[in-house]
Amino acid sequence: MRGKFITVEGIDGAGKSTHLAWLTAFLQARGIKLCATREPGGTPLGEKLRGLLLDKDQPMHLETETLLMFAARREHIDKVIEPALARGEWVLCDRFTDATFAYQGAGRGVDAGKLATLEQWVQGALQPDLTIVFDLPPAVGRARAGSIKVPDRFERESEAFFERVREGYLQRARSAPQRVRVVDASRGIDAIQAELQTIAESLCR
Ligand code: TMP
Repeated sequence: MRGKFITVEGIDGAGKSTHLAWLTAFLQARGIKLCATREPGGTPLGEKLRGLLLDKDQPMHLETETLLMFAARREHIDKVIEPALARGEWVLCDRFTDATFAYQGAGRGVDAGKLATLEQWVQGALQPDLTIVFDLPPAVGRARAGSIKVPDRFERESEAFFERVREGYLQRARSAPQRVRVVDASRGIDAIQAELQTIAESLCR
């Protein structure tokens, strides 16, 4: 049986990594064979493109950025996502096309119609079975992220940029309510994990 495709999204600082680690452990404990991967990245070529895309010293046109995201995705779908799903594994992917609509579309202003064309070209009928968006105000995310490391090309964007990205995610959620679940990530970890558990259990049924 084909596996399930789950993607996880949110603005930088939403606590995605912590929640992903929890979700991975939860699903594995249920005996699910999991392929945990990420975008941009997930393949040797994709990881090279990630390096360019995140490099704070590598400026690029907003459409170049968009095309590189989709180029990495094409490779990822071909080499990792589709084969894993076909083997019956579940794919848990840290970001996917909703991130392009949120960051390049809402954040940078790339036309949504162009993104939809690229989405159709690169993915065909492939869509996640479930997308979890960890939602919180950018100011809270920024405060939580603190100054742990040198910010990459996206992390150094303004709060106004992340407000637009956040709204982009919420817009995607409104347009696909059967696929996208918005989780309030401004709450404490226990409340978030309890909601995640409910979501994950309904998936395992
Ligand atoms: P990460 O640090 O959460 O792994 O994500 C890397 C960065 O790439 C993050 O700031 C969001 C950005 N990104 C886009 O702008 N568009 C995309 O399509 C994807 C997948 C990520």
